[in-house]
Amino acid sequence: MGKVVVVGSINVDMVFTSDIRPKAGETVIGNSFSLIPGGKGANQAVAAAKLGAESVMIGCVGLDTNGDFAIDNLNSVNVDTHCIDIVHDIPTGVANIIVAENDNSIIVVPGANYEVNKSIIDKYSDIILSADIVLVQLEIPLETVEYTLELCNKNNVRVLLNPAPAVELTRTMIENASYITPNEHELNIILGKDSNIEEEIKKYSNKIIVTLGSKGVKYFNGKEVVLIPSYEVEVVDTTGAGDTFCGALASSIVGGYSLDEAIKFANRAAAYSITKLGAQSGMPTLKQLTMNNEN
Ligand code: RIB
Repeated sequence: MGKVVVVGSINVDMVFTSDIRPKAGETVIGNSFSLIPGGKGANQAVAAAKLGAESVMIGCVGLDTNGDFAIDNLNSVNVDTHCIDIVHDIPTGVANIIVAENDNSIIVVPGANYEVNKSIIDKYSDIILSADIVLVQLEIPLETVEYTLELCNKNNVRVLLNPAPAVELTRTMIENASYITPNEHELNIILGKDSNIEEEIKKYSNKIIVTLGSKGVKYFNGKEVVLIPSYEVEVVDTTGAGDTFCGALASSIVGGYSLDEAIKFANRAAAYSITKLGAQSGMPTLKQLTMNNEN
């Protein structure tokens, strides 16, 4: 398998499960609470590593127990953590996640993730350029993402942009990315308009891959719009499904699979992940995915 380098966020997720999602001004009694390593960047690095890729994480944590917890977990699944900087006086990023009524809502406080600046990219540029694919998301400063996309594009390194949480993207960002993986809602935001999915993806062959939840995944292969259906599974927690998809897609692309095969594989990994609680804790290993496919 090839090398995946992730430039992105590292959080600790405080996950509350409840039957009911509280409305504004309301207090409800929940069912469980867990502290689970998260952050879109770290999640994608874990997904790629668990599925057999060499995976390197570039990011920042604070000098605190959350930072230790996040790094220990990355190490435990063989993500290379030597490019994670520890910043003083700024805490590790945290996310408050409510899992209720078959969906999640998340508030992220970025903390140290906003210290992932252009100097960090310069410092680790050799590692970035040694990648078979680079993954970026939008939980670190936007200018760092733009800079990374530009660096990769100039040096012919493939780069996958997962535009979450979504903001409108510049033309250059879209051009510099090799793959972009929005969901339906994020597609409208990144393009800055209400879009017809098929019309838009036809403008970006083999580039914009739209995840549609239970409706599957759509992309344009240069000849036709392809819909790859999703799997029917019992949903426990959808947190991190998009991250599992991106990490699995990257690991499969660098493993030499065609985009079509890679999307099918990523879809299967994402389906597996939503049958378990938590982002990183729900991600499959290659063995689990293979066994699951045989059942
Ligand atoms: O995509 C899921 C992730 O979003 C969570 O792990 C949380 O940390 C937020 O970054």
